[in-house]
Amino acid sequence: MKVDVLLGLQWGDEGKGKVVDVLTPGYDVIARFQGGPNAGHTLEFEGQKYVLRSIPSGIFQGDKLNIIGNGVVLDPALFKAEAEALEASGHSLKERLHISKKAHLILPTHRLLDAAYEAAKGDAKVGTTGKGIGPTYTDKVSRNGIRVGDILHGFERKYAVAKARHEQILKSLNYEYDLTEQEKAWMEGIEYLKQFSLVDSEHEINNFLREEKSVLCEGAQGTMLDIDFGSYPFVTSSNTVCAGACTGLGVAPNRIGEVYGIFKAYCTRVGAGPFPTELFDETGDKMCTLGHEFGSVTGRKRRCGWIDLVALKYSVMVNGVTKLIMMKSDVLDTFQTIKACVAYRLNGEEIDYFPYDIEENLEPVYAELPGWMTDMTKMKSEDEFPEEFNAYLTFLEEQLGVEIKIVSVGPDREQTIERYTE
Ligand code: GDP
Ligand code: IMO
Ligand code: MG
Repeated sequence: MKVDVLLGLQWGDEGKGKVVDVLTPGYDVIARFQGGPNAGHTLEFEGQKYVLRSIPSGIFQGDKLNIIGNGVVLDPALFKAEAEALEASGHSLKERLHISKKAHLILPTHRLLDAAYEAAKGDAKVGTTGKGIGPTYTDKVSRNGIRVGDILHGFERKYAVAKARHEQILKSLNYEYDLTEQEKAWMEGIEYLKQFSLVDSEHEINNFLREEKSVLCEGAQGTMLDIDFGSYPFVTSSNTVCAGACTGLGVAPNRIGEVYGIFKAYCTRVGAGPFPTELFDETGDKMCTLGHEFGSVTGRKRRCGWIDLVALKYSVMVNGVTKLIMMKSDVLDTFQTIKACVAYRLNGEEIDYFPYDIEENLEPVYAELPGWMTDMTKMKSEDEFPEEFNAYLTFLEEQLGVEIKIVSVGPDREQTIERYTE
C-alpha cells in the first residue's frame, strides 16, 4: 500500500484542513508530518467550526487513527488546550491519537526566543506566528532539542539544561520576560501528554502499509513557505513539500502514492515577504472581505492577490503533484474579470520562473478571463458549473499540466465537488 500526501501549494491557508476532513472516510490513518501550532486548519460541518493546530484533521470522521509524526514540533501547553477543547465538545481523542516519541518539544523559552529574534530583526522581521517554531527546529538540527520521548526519561535535567542555554541567549539580546505563567501551563501540558500513546510512529505507519491500510499525510503551511524552496528567508522552518512526509513520518519515497496539491482560486499570504501578485486596491480588499481572509492562529489580516501560476507551476514541480484541488472558488463568484499571473517582467524582460532574488520591481504579467458571475455555493455537481468557470479550470489545467479533481465552493464539508471528467 502507498501513502497519499495532501499539501498546500501557495503560502499556506489554502484549505488543507477542510479537504483532509472530506477525504478522511477513504483512509484508515491520517498523519501530520511537519510544522506545529503555527498551523491553523479550519473545518466546518453541521453548523460547527473547529480550528486545529497540532491535531490532524482526520479526528472528526469516525474511528480513524490520527498520528502526530516525528517531523512535527509540539507545544504541550497548546496541545493540552486544543485536545481538552475537542474532548469537551464530545470528540474523544485518547484512543485515536498517537504521538511520535521523536517529535520535538517547543519549550516556553523557544517562544520567547522567537519573539526576541523577531524584535532584533526590526524591519526585516519574518512576521512569524510567534509559536517558537524556528528556535525549536534550530535546536533539533543543532542537536540540542528535547523530544516527546524524553518526558519519560531524565526529563528534568534535559529541560534545565535547555532552559539555561535559552536564558543566556535571551539575556544577551536584552530581552525581558516573565516565564512563570507559561512554564506552569507547559509543565501541566507535559503531564497531560503522558496520558497519550507515545509511539515509534515510523514502525506503526510501515506496519499499517504492510497490512494494506491506507494513510493520508496532512501537510501544514505551503510550498512557498518551505525552508528550502520557499521565498527564503520569509519562510517557516520545516520542509513543507512532499519530501517532508518521508522524513517527517519515516515513509520511504517509493511509498508515496497520490500527491494532492491544494490551491486557492486566488492567492493569500500572511506575514512578511515577497508576494508578486499582491493587490493593494479595492479588488484585494474585496477578496479579503469575501474570503474572510484573517489568520486562524494570529487573527492577522491576510494579504490578497490574483493566482500566481509561475509560483504554482514551481510548486507542482517540486512536489510531484498528481491531483489538484481548487479551493474558495466561490470568493470569485462576483468578479467580472479574473486575472492569472502567467509570467513576471523583471527589468523589462519576461521570465516564467520564480527568480532567486525576488526583486521589488518584479511585475506580474496577467492573462485575463471572463468571470462566471454566478453564485456557486449551493452547487452539488460539476454539471452545474457555468461555462466561464469550466473555462477557468481548463485554463489552469493547461498551464499547470495536472487535472483539478476537487473544487471547493464554500467552507462547509458539504460544499465540495468532485470532478469526474477526464
Ligand atoms: P488551512 O490552514 O490550509 O487548513 O486553511 P485555513 O483553515 O487556515 O484557511 C482556510 C479558510 O477558508 C478557513 O476559514 C476555511 O473555513 C475557509 N474555506 C475553506 N474552503 C473554502 C471555500 O471553498 N470557500 C470559502 N469561502 N471558504 C473556504
Ligand atoms: P497553515 O498550516 C499561513 C507563516 C508566518 C510567517 C512564516 C514563518 O495554517 O497553512 P513561523 O511561525 O512558521 O516561523 O512563521 O510562515 N506561516 C503560515 N502562514 N499558514 C500557516 O499554516 C502558516 N504557518 C506559518 O505567517 O510568515
Ligand atoms: Mg491555516
